[in-house]
Amino acid sequence: MTNISGANPLLKIENLRAAYGKIEALKGVDLDIKPGEIVALIGANGAGKSTLMMSIFGKPRAKAGRIVFDGIDITALPTHQIARMSIAQSPEGRRIFPRMSVAENLQMGADAGINTEATKAETLERMLTLFPRLRERYAQRGGTLSGGEQQMLAIARALMSRPRLLLLDEPSLGLAPLVTRQIFEAIRTLNRQDGLTVLIVEQNANHALRLAHRGYVLVNGLITMSGSGADLLARPEVRAAYLEGGRQA
Ligand SMILES: Nc1ncnc2c1ncn2[C@@H]1O[C@H](COP(=O)(O)OP(=O)(O)OP(=O)(O)O)[C@@H](O)[C@H]1O
Ligand SMILES: [Mg+2]
Repeated sequence: MTNISGANPLLKIENLRAAYGKIEALKGVDLDIKPGEIVALIGANGAGKSTLMMSIFGKPRAKAGRIVFDGIDITALPTHQIARMSIAQSPEGRRIFPRMSVAENLQMGADAGINTEATKAETLERMLTLFPRLRERYAQRGGTLSGGEQQMLAIARALMSRPRLLLLDEPSLGLAPLVTRQIFEAIRTLNRQDGLTVLIVEQNANHALRLAHRGYVLVNGLITMSGSGADLLARPEVRAAYLEGGRQA
């Protein structure tokens, strides 16, 4: 087990504000993630979850506040430089390359990193072990995969660059419970066995808070609650807003 209580944060977000024109999507967000942690960010449609994730890559740019990764202030860095800093993203809507094969999609992910051919081969083997379905579909075009398989491919592609921090935006969106469980199980394995640090954005609060060590609740561009996953799951406000009567508990 990694001792995560005392470590310096791998990602530290301080008073982050971001806007699209006049729409202020983030109104001063504080959030940190320690090495080896899985942190869940939950919130309703339009709360600003995707904006927070994308603003780590500078799209949109912070209007105020700071984003520090591994001790380096990345707030004002160009997006392509941030992408080379060992942070990888599987964005909302799993944007894989539909006309490329599974193999080519994974190769593209590997090429985004700076690893040796040996490391790339080893990482590929790890991904195909973690997601056996991708091994079976290795030569198949991305666009012909099922929704769940495309999500697995999007995550595996992001991981091919061997990031230290993985950002996942709604990996369970539109997926059946069984596939969701498989994907969450793979994330848990990567965290436990490979020490991967994860920020997961989800409307599916039940799954996400069970998976995560800690969670944050985002409401209208502001963090309103934070705590351990178990602690948040037990709070009546969280249950009322994001579990019972909320979208797929
Ligand atoms: N490109 C954009 N241009 C203008 N406004 C945007 C843009 N993207 C997001 N917004 C607005 O910013 C706010 C936050 O959106 P965001 O996509 O971050 O929410 P979210 O929490 O990810 O929601 P969902 O759960 O539906 O994915 C919303 O009010 C949204 O309409
Ligand atoms: Mg979103």
